[in-house]
Amino acid sequence: MDVRRIGVVGLGAMGAGIAQVAIEAGFDVVGREVSDELGTAATERIGHFLTRKVEKGRLAQDARDAALGRLRTTTDVSELVDCDLVVEAIVEELQAKRALFVELERFCRRDTVLATNTSALSVTEIAAATASPERVVGMHFFNPAPLMPLVEVVRGELSSDDAVATALDVVDRLGKVAVPCHDTPGFVVNRVLIPLLNDCVRVLDEARVSPEALDAAMTNGAGWPMGPCTLLDLVGIDVHVHASEALYEKLRETRMAPPPRLVAMRNAGLLGRKSGRGFHGY
Ligand code: 3HC
Repeated sequence: MDVRRIGVVGLGAMGAGIAQVAIEAGFDVVGREVSDELGTAATERIGHFLTRKVEKGRLAQDARDAALGRLRTTTDVSELVDCDLVVEAIVEELQAKRALFVELERFCRRDTVLATNTSALSVTEIAAATASPERVVGMHFFNPAPLMPLVEVVRGELSSDDAVATALDVVDRLGKVAVPCHDTPGFVVNRVLIPLLNDCVRVLDEARVSPEALDAAMTNGAGWPMGPCTLLDLVGIDVHVHASEALYEKLRETRMAPPPRLVAMRNAGLLGRKSGRGFHGY
């Protein structure tokens, strides 16, 4: 399908990033949030990052304005009716996602491709809530979406070749790198990254090093672009703990289980960048 209009449901850090990438690539975007205030906040966040690109000479002012002009926000799921592709980026809860996909199926055209940005839930289980699982795929972006090139295009058990092809085509037009894969716990990157980050947190206590020292070790010794504690703060401690729990539940591998230190941080509200404090202060 020749996708022109993309819906993004949930304009948090990931959804706003996905919407930004799409308007920059020339797509019309309808972003859906639960309140006008959240929709406005997301538009302002996107406007801020586009302005930074203008200030750094990476984007022309009129291109910035034209991109923002392609974004419309709404609180009403029925306004996604004209979208050729809808990307869901709401809270990582299976029941909430399944309920949303039922709603999307009701309001969207029959040929609209429905994609989930889930990081650790099953695309197949989300698709199974609908009567048309063949049009459901995973499109898993990485944080921060405007800067990270990869999108995993995840084939659920019943995804059609057409739906997968549409998602791959859109990823290409977004200027991103697609890695197609099947619906397995954590897909490709999180299957590797989540236990690795859990190992990093265990090393903090075992080797008795500070978060700053561990970050310095991995950036200077392993060439990571940012240290593991900085990365966990960026991803969100709550998001990481939730993804770890989801993978542990499915795979029963001990390295997948979130280290108690991370669970305690989550319970204390030390969520990283978004709460102002995690391993580091912001
Ligand atoms: N949205 C849009 N723009 C953003 C942004 C965001 N969320 N965050 C930063 N930017 C912009 C800012 O304008 C910033 O510039 P400013 O500070 O001057 O305003 C600019 O991007 C930074 O650009 P740089 O070219 O300077 O970026 P760096 O060279 O510092 O690289 C990085 C940043 C790409 C994030 C790099 O540090 C990196 O690759 N880190 C690793 C990130 C990673 O591993 N992500 C994956 C996490 S796992 C995941 O997402 C899976 C999920 O399921 C949990």
